[in-house]
Amino acid sequence: MAEADPKSLIPFKVTEPDRIPTPRYYDEAFYKLECDKLWPHVWQMACRVEQLPEVGDWIEYSHLGKSVIVTRTKDGIRAFHNACRHRGVQLVSGHGNCKTQGFICPFHGWRWDGEGKNSFVYGRHMFDERQLDAGDLALIPCRAEEALGCVFINFDDDAPSFADTIGPVLGRLEKKGQSGQRAEWWFSTEIPANWKIAMEAFMEGYHVMRTHPQLQQAAPMIYNMMYGMDTGGIGLPINPNLSVRENVYAQFKHMELLSEGMSGMLHTKEVEIARHLLEVELPEDPQQGVMMWYGIVQHQITEKLRARGENVPDLNAVAVSDPVNAVEFIFPNYFLLPFMTSTSAYRIRPTGPETCQFEIWSLTHFAPGDEPEPIMEPTVLPYNSEEFPPIPRQDYANIPIQQKGLHAKGFDFMRLSKDIEGMISNYNRIIDGHLEGKPADKLAAATHTLGGNFDGKIFEYDF
Ligand code: FES
Ligand SMILES: [Fe+2]
Repeated sequence: MAEADPKSLIPFKVTEPDRIPTPRYYDEAFYKLECDKLWPHVWQMACRVEQLPEVGDWIEYSHLGKSVIVTRTKDGIRAFHNACRHRGVQLVSGHGNCKTQGFICPFHGWRWDGEGKNSFVYGRHMFDERQLDAGDLALIPCRAEEALGCVFINFDDDAPSFADTIGPVLGRLEKKGQSGQRAEWWFSTEIPANWKIAMEAFMEGYHVMRTHPQLQQAAPMIYNMMYGMDTGGIGLPINPNLSVRENVYAQFKHMELLSEGMSGMLHTKEVEIARHLLEVELPEDPQQGVMMWYGIVQHQITEKLRARGENVPDLNAVAVSDPVNAVEFIFPNYFLLPFMTSTSAYRIRPTGPETCQFEIWSLTHFAPGDEPEPIMEPTVLPYNSEEFPPIPRQDYANIPIQQKGLHAKGFDFMRLSKDIEGMISNYNRIIDGHLEGKPADKLAAATHTLGGNFDGKIFEYDF
């Protein structure tokens, strides 16, 4: 069993970076510590920006018993704690527009305008003046920042800004066009697993061989190169024994499976453009030919979607100037799978020590005027629903049984690969840093290392 650090107040702290103590995923005291020391200090993805198109539009975000109103004012997006300044009743739930009526408390009818200023107190004369100070009656603001097409909120007024917390990967993701995308669909499900177990299922591609065999079989050379034992991790991503054309067809098959499997992350409109390029003239060398094919595909996707009016980035240019990984994490519980011009986005929130709410959005660009109506509520499904796209369904199959296995006698810690499961360790040690109240700037510096760390190594942190 991992040795407890006698100096630490954190139960089940990670003391050996490649061994993660299992009670972190079910222990009540550890969960309580996260509720008290982690969640109130981190940036939480509260909503999509397109859900608030007009001034006065608002949407409620609630998490672990706290509720916030996120609203568009004439000066931009703001957030307020969702509680009446009289006797604390929650003002609103769901979503709406406050332009005509403001926010009206359902208990005694006090009222606030969209900027959070109190505009009405019923029976004012019955209150002592001291109780009616305008500043004190205003709704309490909550920090809110717009990024990646989302609004992120933070309950901690002293936390570093969102950009300072996330670090350089944020700029790279924006260059890839995240703020210009909007939701095409949004699913939510409850999974019987700790929120970290659910997150960690996406921190490595090592599970593809067994969990998503269709992807591995379509392009075995890619996966063998990355994870295969025999090659020692070194090999060719392109199969040199096949012709360039056979290689291109294999790559395309993989694209199709990814598109079907995620229902959007690689959009059908992109697959169709690639399909028309299968017979394009290429050099005979498979390595060179496949690289060139990808270049042509990305160029054509950029050009064709731009011609349709979509404000997509130049895919070949950003791949060089601002490369991002297959999965990019926005600590603590939001992550993106940014592929060509579309993205799958995930948010995972604890609902108890061994349950979480798991949401997926499919995001893409639309030409002005072609945008779908903003989706205001997720489609809620059981986690084993056939309606989920095949790839998430495969991931969901493992997550609950991993949670069960963690309770087995003698299973005291998870053993990590130092080379490709490093992110799981890095994440857990940054969580420990929050639980121990380490300096915010050091935690932010460590959080920056999560950018591009998918399939990455264990890092050392100086806190
Ligand atoms: S509690 Fe809101 S008006 Fe009384
Ligand atoms: Fe997966």
